[in-house]
Amino acid sequence: MERFDAIVVGAGAAGMFCAAQAGQAGCRVLLVDNGKKPGRKILMSGGGRCNFTNMYVEPAAYLSQNPHFCKSALARYTQWDFIDLVGKHGIAWHEKTLGQLFCDDSADQIVKMLVDECEKGNVTMRLRTEILSVERDADGYTLQLNGETVTAKKLVIASGGLSMPGLGATPFGYKIAEQFGLKVLPTRAGLVPFTLHKPLLEQLQVLSGVSVPAVITGEDGTVFRESLLFTHRGLSGPAVLQISNYWHSGEYVSINLLPECDLDDFLNEQRSAHPNQSLKNTLAMQLPKRLVECLQQLGQIPDVTLKQLNMRDQQTLVETLTEWRVQPNGTEGYRTAEVTLGGVDTNELSSRTMEARNVPGLYFIGEVMDVTGWLGGYNFQWAWASAWACAQAL
Ligand code: FDA
Repeated sequence: MERFDAIVVGAGAAGMFCAAQAGQAGCRVLLVDNGKKPGRKILMSGGGRCNFTNMYVEPAAYLSQNPHFCKSALARYTQWDFIDLVGKHGIAWHEKTLGQLFCDDSADQIVKMLVDECEKGNVTMRLRTEILSVERDADGYTLQLNGETVTAKKLVIASGGLSMPGLGATPFGYKIAEQFGLKVLPTRAGLVPFTLHKPLLEQLQVLSGVSVPAVITGEDGTVFRESLLFTHRGLSGPAVLQISNYWHSGEYVSINLLPECDLDDFLNEQRSAHPNQSLKNTLAMQLPKRLVECLQQLGQIPDVTLKQLNMRDQQTLVETLTEWRVQPNGTEGYRTAEVTLGGVDTNELSSRTMEARNVPGLYFIGEVMDVTGWLGGYNFQWAWASAWACAQAL
């Protein structure tokens, strides 16, 4: 039976970073993962360039039933600390938009950096490994792996959420939490595209691939200004992924398809200058032509010239384009979701160390717990920060 100071389950973002930090501080660490390579989500992230953090990280960008929980870890290991580490490894990066930082070359560089950091900490990494059982006694934790038994004083669960089962996601972390009596809050897919009810979907399917800047507002008043993408299943794009975190089944979202234009003023100006211009061609100056044509076919845009457009119809049109109310049918679910909302209740954990309050030596870090960030590097920053806080305590 092999003995370690700490066993970390999950060689994703949080697990690798925690194992590396603890190893470098002198801990004998075993890092276990069910996959054949570490950091599979990192490799897929940010379109292959990994949006590894955000310049504007703040607790308000995270959803949790316990919104204060994330503050301590985010303040102690910041985006600037991670940017520093990326710099030390010679990884070139750039800001894309809204403070989102991406590798210039490839997400592979972040995985390589984390593997190098683990090697620096003499971390033992076991891939393609299933955990058959976890037991706790006075000496710590004993894990039956396929083929061997390992023990450690401390056990860190960094097995992530349920999103993208194809990349190794399992409910392992929730099961361990329940085994040791911790509350697990209901989970649902987050940062995920919306599906639409059949009649609306059939009407909008021709727009698949069309993208527009938009402002999207949820029923709770949460607002995001990003782009929206029509897809053959419904609605996607950053604006939709962001609001999906705040959306619950049955709710509506309100969409402004013309956030950069005062449509009323624009139509009045155009009417004075070109009274015989068609409404359709006028709107095509502000919106993609395919969208205008589709809305006209649906009867949302009258087939008239500007001088024929009366004020009442203009008002209706402005409302249609700037306060379009959509009731999604649902989401695409865990299959395409970037994150999982809910998870291990943070009230059960220390916000300083991520240790379970009533189970000494058991820690939860990263996405497995009920802390979920916005799109844009916030979720990786939570992985780094919670991992760092935990590693200080190992
Ligand atoms: P993570 O999921 O990274 O790691 C968990 C590990 O545990 C996995 O390696 C898994 O194989 C392993 N595991 C699970 N069950 C196990 C078991 N039973 N036994 C052993 N091992 C087990 N975020 C961001 O900030 N910027 C971005 O650009 C993106 N982009 C992005 C793209 C895509 C396609 C997805 C799916 C997600 C993102 N995200 C993101 C979200 C981000 O990837 C996510 O929040 C972090 O990876 C969470 O890190 P964790 O280490 O907690 O879990």
